[in-house]
Amino acid sequence: MNRLATALGRLRLKSPVTVASGTFDTGYFELFDQSALGAYTTKTITLAPKAGNPPPRLYETEAGLLNSIGLQNPGLKAWLNEDLPLLRDLLQIPLIVSFSGSSEDEFLRVLDGLELQEGIAGYEVNVSCPNVAKEGIAFGADPDVVFSLASSLAALTRRELIFKLSPNVTDIAAIAQAAEAGGASSLALINTLYGSAIDWKTGRFRISSFVCGYSGSGIKPVALALCHKVALAVRIPILALGGIHSWQDALEFFWAGASAIALGTAFYSDPLAAVKLRQGLEDFLRENDLSLRDIIGKAR
Ligand SMILES: Cc1cc2nc3c(=O)[nH]c(=O)nc-3n(C[C@H](O)[C@H](O)[C@H](O)COP(=O)(O)O)c2cc1C
Repeated sequence: MNRLATALGRLRLKSPVTVASGTFDTGYFELFDQSALGAYTTKTITLAPKAGNPPPRLYETEAGLLNSIGLQNPGLKAWLNEDLPLLRDLLQIPLIVSFSGSSEDEFLRVLDGLELQEGIAGYEVNVSCPNVAKEGIAFGADPDVVFSLASSLAALTRRELIFKLSPNVTDIAAIAQAAEAGGASSLALINTLYGSAIDWKTGRFRISSFVCGYSGSGIKPVALALCHKVALAVRIPILALGGIHSWQDALEFFWAGASAIALGTAFYSDPLAAVKLRQGLEDFLRENDLSLRDIIGKAR
């Protein structure tokens, strides 16, 4: 019996542990068996290539990480020609492709290109990246825009359609409900919070763009609260992320209503974090004669 089995909309996952977009190098699979993961999510791709922001792009804070990568990616065409064949050969777990766009039309054109390809189990629609002026946040902050985008994308695919939400909004539950009403089959939350750091001596920003994305252990309480808030507001499953490092962290999110979790910043301090988390979770469930589905959403 697999106590860790879970579902994310149309996807059946053997493990509830996945990786956060943009944080995981497939080279880590030389260190551990990929079957520890329920799915693999790519870095966000866009229609045109993006060079990303100038360095410095990462800064470690007292409790987490600031990043300003700026959605660096090779663009859809090069990704389809170069990255996808490699991932198809490598992966024995479901492949989730994260993508973003600067207009609804651009999102639709990326989806069109991906729909023609085999070997893709689902999509994570990034409407939440705070780093790039025109992309992401304008979509993710407005329920009407999210509803329209979800409706248009849902009409074009039968694959798992995950909407990844930003915490940098007034009411994340309203955005989540708009995504669900439009046809998203699950939600991922949260993307990075806004953050910044200044060198106290020189007054220089520590990162090239002064507002960047804050992730890691410092954002875990925020992510947990938002996960529960959204779980109370929607019926579709939640893939939770934000500061998760350990199996105990993961359990908190399952109690709060998540059906699966992702590790991101944790990989920077421990490339084996996912495999350790999965093992700890399995041991806890066995010792307490529980299955994951017994605890999802049962916080009291
Ligand atoms: C260096 C870095 C790059 C990221 N790139 C992306 C990205 O391309 N697309 C995306 O949706 N989220 C991206 N994220 C956000 C993560 O997927 C995740 O939502 C966030 O870091 C919170 O999880 P964590 O605290 O476990 O890292 C990135 C985060 C980091 C630290």
